[in-house]
Amino acid sequence: MAANKNTFSPASTERDRRVLALYDQLMEIEQRLIPTGLHVLGRPAESRELGDMLRMIASFERPETGARALTNLVAEGLKLPSYESSSLEAREEVDRIVIQAIQDFLRNGVAAAVSSLRTMANVSSDDSSQVFRPLQEISEQLKVNSEMESVVAALRGEYLPSGPGADIVQNPSILPTGRNTHAINPYGIPSPVAFARGKIVAESLLERHLKEQGRYPKALGLVLWGLDNIKTRGEGVAQALWLLGVRPIRDSLNRVTNVEAIPLAELRRPRMDVVMTVSGIFRDLFSPTIQLLDKAVRTVAQLDEPFEMNHVRWHVMEQLQRDHCQIDDAAVRVFSNAPGSYGTNVNFMVMDSTWNEEDSLGDLFVTRKCFAYGRDGAGRVIDGREARLAMDRALARVEATYQNIDTFEIGITDVDHYFEYLGGISRAVEKRAGGRPSIYLSDSLSQAVRIRTLEETVRLETRAKTLNPKWFEGMLKHGFRGVAEIESHVSNTFGWSATADAVDDWVYTELAETFVLDSRMLERLKTLNPHSAHALVGRLLEAHGRGYWNPEPELTTRLTEIAGELEDHLEGVT
Ligand code: BEZ
Ligand code: MG
Repeated sequence: MAANKNTFSPASTERDRRVLALYDQLMEIEQRLIPTGLHVLGRPAESRELGDMLRMIASFERPETGARALTNLVAEGLKLPSYESSSLEAREEVDRIVIQAIQDFLRNGVAAAVSSLRTMANVSSDDSSQVFRPLQEISEQLKVNSEMESVVAALRGEYLPSGPGADIVQNPSILPTGRNTHAINPYGIPSPVAFARGKIVAESLLERHLKEQGRYPKALGLVLWGLDNIKTRGEGVAQALWLLGVRPIRDSLNRVTNVEAIPLAELRRPRMDVVMTVSGIFRDLFSPTIQLLDKAVRTVAQLDEPFEMNHVRWHVMEQLQRDHCQIDDAAVRVFSNAPGSYGTNVNFMVMDSTWNEEDSLGDLFVTRKCFAYGRDGAGRVIDGREARLAMDRALARVEATYQNIDTFEIGITDVDHYFEYLGGISRAVEKRAGGRPSIYLSDSLSQAVRIRTLEETVRLETRAKTLNPKWFEGMLKHGFRGVAEIESHVSNTFGWSATADAVDDWVYTELAETFVLDSRMLERLKTLNPHSAHALVGRLLEAHGRGYWNPEPELTTRLTEIAGELEDHLEGVT
């Protein structure tokens, strides 16, 4: 028996480890909310589905309503460190209690759930009521369904009440269904959560600059995108407002239509000057928000404060004196494309190699983005007035540029839009300010705020994705398209050299070694997609040709030969 035990012990330990790992993964899959089939119009959720949905909704912290995540409340009641950091068994226990409480709620109502949570996990009645009272309303709304009636009404050409279109777990106020959905209510931007978060991110950004440069930037150049501000309910907008030192004010209809200055004693730092370059999508979706941002700048410019504590006022006054211009030219800070136009085209210029001087990239950015939005001094709406000189002046003061990243899915080398915007504005600043700005990005998805320089972010993306076998082997499984993705990463990396000199030499060297000098890899790329393989080698040679990469001469000689071979292959010579 003892011998048997000894023989089997290591194997069973290994087996346990594997089973646990498998179990962990199953838990992850189980806890993910997935559609359990097609939605049938007019059919309300069945009770099992309803329970799952409510459990999911109750598992999120909702600071806006004061409701805690049920999983966290139970974990705390059981004196566990936290749900996330608890052992598998402990988490299972928490989940079991949460499921039981939801079932008690569905069968016998709020009081029953509150009471069973108190008994099972010492959760206070106040805390659990905060969760279950809104859940009561949500569950009522999930049980009624007027989708059929709404469709019929719409077909009759009748009015349909509207409601937000969003994810139910993120935003349960999409209920009841069967309404005319809209993507977002721009008057709700920034949400209180986004504003609280925007403050933390903006302060971290300033701290980082202060630490590195020894002082605050004279002005910051910001990039604001539409989709990002939809997803985060306006975190980017909130960051801009906080940098200016104002907070949003809601009117009697709960619409964010005004701002108030945060007293300097509370702010404890100067108000920052911000130049906001917004995408065409942002301009189209967030017209009231553009008005709000413009109002914020004008409000701050009018405050009777010392220049060193109010950079906006300082710069506006300085410009009025120097240029003898109108206040409308000196105080404009929100820029976008001309009405009906989108994008900076900097990405196209880089991808097509149709530029000689780096300054042309920054100039193109300004040509595309120098249209002012907001209101003039008389209160009339300015809807895309060309204001090139005003933008030149505003950019000339910028010492730091910045963009918020709200997703792990799309990073700065996955698409060409990050370098066309953040790179584009940085190049424009470099020429106008007579020096390269500090360039920062934040990732605001995780709980902990991270501010990184562009150089750090390029290194991180290169290591985590482009040079990571897990990433590129995953891509290569997609054959032709996968090679195009790899090439596009190399070209987007190059975009950060062209617009911001932000790529270390080793990045290009390792890209060359991994994808070109490794003959087996090169053969795979060439077989799957010879066009992209050729473009990739060409881009590396361009990086060298433009002075962004200084490898050993033998290396470039080899690359040139390979480029020639690939060209011959494409032309059918070999
Ligand atoms: C935007 O959401 O504003 C956006 C999306 C893609 C590229 C550029 C901007
Ligand atoms: Mg250079």
